Amino acid sequence: MKGVVLAGGLGTRLYPLTKITNKHLLPIYDEPMIYYPIKALVEAGIEDIMIVCGGNLAGEFLRLLGNGAEFGLKHLNYTYQEREGGIAEALGLCKHFVDGDKAVVFLGDNIIGESLASAVDEFARQDGGARILLREVEDPTDYGVAKFDEHNNIVEIIEKPEVPPSKFAVVGIYMYDSQVFDIIETLKPSNRGELEITDVNNAYLKMGKLHYSVLKDFWADAGASIEAYFDTIRIVREHKIAGKQR
Ligand code: DAU
Repeated sequence: MKGVVLAGGLGTRLYPLTKITNKHLLPIYDEPMIYYPIKALVEAGIEDIMIVCGGNLAGEFLRLLGNGAEFGLKHLNYTYQEREGGIAEALGLCKHFVDGDKAVVFLGDNIIGESLASAVDEFARQDGGARILLREVEDPTDYGVAKFDEHNNIVEIIEKPEVPPSKFAVVGIYMYDSQVFDIIETLKPSNRGELEITDVNNAYLKMGKLHYSVLKDFWADAGASIEAYFDTIRIVREHKIAGKQR
């Protein structure tokens, strides 16, 4: 199983904090934002990881992360996204790296409070297809949102709906078989000019190959807004302090 951390984009929702630096290099309590997805992948047993850089100060990722020794890794892979073409475009750059394997894709601004290991195990046992993670939130309008039928099957994922069909947001952690790269090649840019990961997930759904797991502990999209960034630091701090006291 391969791991991909997406750290491109311009982070405009955190301007001016991100005017001259990269969002994923900003601190979240006592560590840079990008440490959290890397650590979560390593904890779930994934050691072959690609970092997709882009935007401001992309070269600084190499200086910060090196070959990943701090995370117990022997090696880290890097690639560069030339423009902000969307999450699916960034993932498309990893086709040769994934090389027919399965992959766990982690958005560089997402942080979760629980282990990914059980969802990754379920995906490893799954006969191909995709697995997404959902988290119930009070207001899901900033996210992809799952619409369910009466048997709790997902029937559609809607990106940033004004009127959400449920409270289950799609977390920025996605698991795909290598068919994802064929799907990405068929995508057209959305209204915001990006290749949308929600279109990828809906394509798997149409083929009857989209499964889901539900997260129970905290989930933060630290890049969603300055309030989300501030809340994430507070929650991560509380979580780490509680962990030290246990
Ligand atoms: O956080 C979860 C949400 O992430 C999902 O619920 C949404 O369905 C999904 O579209 C995405 O929404 P955002 O609008 O919040 O994504 P954003 O543009 O903030 O990008 C998230 C991460 O993806 C960001 O940390 C860097 C990476 N990225 C983004 C773009 C647009 C890239 O690597 N390249 C890109 O071109």
